[in-house]
Amino acid sequence: MPSEFLVRTVTGLEDLTAAEITEAGHRVVDVTKRQLVVEAAGPVVTRLADDLFAVRASVPDPGRTRDGLRQAVARLTARVAHGGPISVTASFTGSRNFSRFDVEDAVGARLGEPYFSRRHGTPPPPGTTDLRVTLDGKAMWLGVRPHPAPLHRRAWRRATVVGSLHPPVAAAMARLAGIRPGHVVFDPCCGAGTLLIEARIQVPGARYHGTDIDPAAIRAARINDPGIAWRTEAVEPDRILANPPWGVRLPADAVPSAGWPEAGRLVAILGEGQRLDRRWTTVGEHALTVAGRHPRIVVALIGK
Ligand SMILES: C[S@@+](CC[C@H](N)C(=O)[O-])C[C@H]1O[C@@H](n2cnc3c(N)ncnc32)[C@H](O)[C@@H]1O
Repeated sequence: MPSEFLVRTVTGLEDLTAAEITEAGHRVVDVTKRQLVVEAAGPVVTRLADDLFAVRASVPDPGRTRDGLRQAVARLTARVAHGGPISVTASFTGSRNFSRFDVEDAVGARLGEPYFSRRHGTPPPPGTTDLRVTLDGKAMWLGVRPHPAPLHRRAWRRATVVGSLHPPVAAAMARLAGIRPGHVVFDPCCGAGTLLIEARIQVPGARYHGTDIDPAAIRAARINDPGIAWRTEAVEPDRILANPPWGVRLPADAVPSAGWPEAGRLVAILGEGQRLDRRWTTVGEHALTVAGRHPRIVVALIGK
């Protein structure tokens, strides 16, 4: 029987993450805001997901009321045996008459030996198993992460700059770029290198060039991946991947792409109010919510 997983992702990347997981041979059985339910054919490897949890139990979503929550938690936890110290992280969609901490404490009180609440911001001690509970409007799920760290935390990331991109978003952009072995790929404002590093993991056989106006960014990119040609321009790239500053050091309505070369395809993440210069025709857009901001990924080609 296939094992069931909850795959958590960035708001706006649900469909792209589902496509990545389906292509890998798994079955995506449901997609809701920030979450996929996946029947896995084997180990689930994903670069677009934020995190992944093996499902331990599920019951129908209890809806808004505290009474419904209490009954649902009783049913949910009755199906799970857990020994040892736990903490619980909960999230839900829609408006409810209870908080995420109410969900966490209700589950923790039934399963913890002992239970460490996150209600007052105290981190649980090392060795604690963090259980994940989500309410997606259809079901209440209980899962456990099958690996020690969240998936979005990358082993390669040892240095960052202001505005460093969330790695799963960079991975999604690399996927949208359609990079093939032999392509020349250019990032004109590479920061600490997230876009090209994630792209190179997906397509090691392409050639990657990145540059940045800030020498500290180049230093950070070299620390993160010494194997990429940092501080080099690509004159006629096949693909451009770009994450210009989102109005932090540029006026929000500036056209960041004006000085970039032309390419077979451009994938940029733009802040609210930012646009590309007139050479580019947008062929795809993906609106995201990430860290409380609302950028969009734009896929563009040269010409009409
Ligand atoms: C949002 S950050 C890029 C972050 C990067 N994607 C990462 O994950 O670390 C934008 C970068 O653009 C660079 N930048 C700003 N103006 C630039 C320009 N005119 N030419 C090249 N780089 C520029 C900044 O120094 C900054 O590192």
